[in-house]
Amino acid sequence: MAIVSKKSQQQDDRIIASSSTEDKDANEFSLRPKSMSEYIGQSEVKKNLSVFIEAAKKRGDPLEHVLFHGPPGLGKTTLANILSKEMNVNIKTTAGPALEKQGDLAAILTNLKPNDILFIDEIHRLKAPVEEILYSAMEDFCLDIVIGKGPAARSMRLSLPKFTLVGATTKLSMLSSPLRDRFGNLIKLEFYKEDEIEQILERSSAIFGLTINDDACVRLAQSSRRTPRIANRLLKRVRDFATVYGDSDTINSAIVEQALAALGVDQLGLDNTDRQILHTIADKFRGGPVGLNTIAAATNEEQNTVEDIYEPYLLQLGFLERTPRGRVVTDRAYKHLGLVAPSQQTMLIAENQ
Ligand code: ADE
Repeated sequence: MAIVSKKSQQQDDRIIASSSTEDKDANEFSLRPKSMSEYIGQSEVKKNLSVFIEAAKKRGDPLEHVLFHGPPGLGKTTLANILSKEMNVNIKTTAGPALEKQGDLAAILTNLKPNDILFIDEIHRLKAPVEEILYSAMEDFCLDIVIGKGPAARSMRLSLPKFTLVGATTKLSMLSSPLRDRFGNLIKLEFYKEDEIEQILERSSAIFGLTINDDACVRLAQSSRRTPRIANRLLKRVRDFATVYGDSDTINSAIVEQALAALGVDQLGLDNTDRQILHTIADKFRGGPVGLNTIAAATNEEQNTVEDIYEPYLLQLGFLERTPRGRVVTDRAYKHLGLVAPSQQTMLIAENQ
């Protein structure tokens, strides 16, 4: 049951943003594609979403609730905004941790217009009581609220306009099954192919009015962890180096190499923290297994940061494995670090005997 208070109505502005005006990085926002046709990569996802959009439009219905899941920076928020544009509806944006009380969410839900999209980022971080009122809102488009306090309290069922909930999470496993099951579409975003990242870099360079040479583009894409957000971030840093040390309108491979070296980003896009994580397991714990808390303490990072930001790409590269007893580095990781893996050491010793 939701308790709607005046305060939560006032907090509405803090908690939600219409469209993505609250985006932390205005530049990143301007680089974001605004339509499916501008969006590069995730071709299966785009194809399916386009069908759902066309079908919903033909029927005059809102889209079914959509849950995007996958590592950060792959385009979950961008796709939510594209859905609203393609459906010609408003989008209200909020995030799991911003909804502290049931009333916070109730205030947003009661202000939605028919067919609007409510986008909840980091939906796995919703508090249980807040999540509970979402169930009937999603399923029956109604809200159970309590008016007043104590013996005079009365409960009321409010009907809501039909709307679409778009959720985004980096941790599908942390979503309760009642919530997960209420999404009609569960959509997983995968890491991009390297040529798609190259196309994104070319598009972003054009928006910035930059010429990017082919070899510079390939090199920058290699270090972008197959993630558009990282590609665009690196492009902006390389542009800074070009402005100071080179030709401010052209990105060539020399300036890319100079910038990546200065930023400590290697050929595969690993930065100092990635390498520190791998070295911690390889050097201090003889390859593992090592618990996440130990890795976090040794690298001075939060456990969540290690797990959500660093590990997905290291797992994807096959440098790290998760076992029930902890994290283990692979022979591939040893090779990348320029070290001899314990398995190879045994072989070398045997060969020398
Ligand atoms: N910028 C960030 N992500 C993008 C994408 N998927 N397509 C085009 N430009 C982007």
